[in-house]
Amino acid sequence: MVTLGAKPGWRDRLPAGLPELSEALLLVYGAYPFTPTVLELARKPWAVRLATLGERLQPGAFEGLGKRKIFMDRQVQAAIAAGASQVLVLGAGFDTLCLGLAREYPRIRFVEIDHPDTGAAKQRAVAQLGQPSNMTLLASDLAAVSLSRVLADSPAWDTRRLSAAVAEGLLYYLPADSVQQLFRELRASMAPASRVAFSHLYDLRRYRLARAAVNAEGEPWLSASEPSDLEAYIGAGWSIVERCPDSARRELEGLAVAERL
Ligand SMILES: C[S@@+](CC[C@H](N)C(=O)[O-])C[C@H]1O[C@@H](n2cnc3c(N)ncnc32)[C@H](O)[C@@H]1O
Repeated sequence: MVTLGAKPGWRDRLPAGLPELSEALLLVYGAYPFTPTVLELARKPWAVRLATLGERLQPGAFEGLGKRKIFMDRQVQAAIAAGASQVLVLGAGFDTLCLGLAREYPRIRFVEIDHPDTGAAKQRAVAQLGQPSNMTLLASDLAAVSLSRVLADSPAWDTRRLSAAVAEGLLYYLPADSVQQLFRELRASMAPASRVAFSHLYDLRRYRLARAAVNAEGEPWLSASEPSDLEAYIGAGWSIVERCPDSARRELEGLAVAERL
């Protein structure tokens, strides 16, 4: 996001303040490789050119992430305008959606859940930046712990409210049966008509190069779905109200929104 914000034309397209907030978060996190020098280098024109080259090798791997951020931000703001009073971001990582919107919407509750390994580092960084009082960070391994239990146990979440949830860059780290389990847990955690905006891979066989890279990092991709099969991918009890595959179908990820029936 820091590099994309430096690409001409992108700063104004991304959600307001996103590159700056991402950089601030990484700076207070302070761990290698996110030093001030590295983050300064990440904004250099050659860094933009390098990332643009990467995008040619794997369409969607650079600008696609920006489109994903814009999509999630718009979906959450639309859900708030439609009456959602709480927002849940699953597998939040160092995403800044909650941090950015919590100050803009002080009456809305924002909750993030991430794996304890990443979650602990994010909690320290957010505390240093100044955690908004309407933002809660929870650490939990979604593959091992029941999401509905985690939320039911948190005073920050009310399972009866109209809600918006985001699962961005997350579902493909879960096997297909865990994706369905996650949506069952989400169903139990929010009122009818609540929405979940998510990204998904298309067909794992399409990503030979990218899969070799993520396998080498020890974070293999485990599930995917064609846009036409999303109902089966997430399971019963949801209606897909938006699906946005890119027209050429060459991008890394598809984007979609499911509404709780
Ligand atoms: C590719 S990052 C995406 C981060 C963020 N959602 C974004 O789009 O910028 C994947 C995130 O999923 C989280 N994650 C992966 N498996 C998880 C699990 N079993 N439970 C909780 N979080 C998980 C990781 O900790 C990481 O933060």
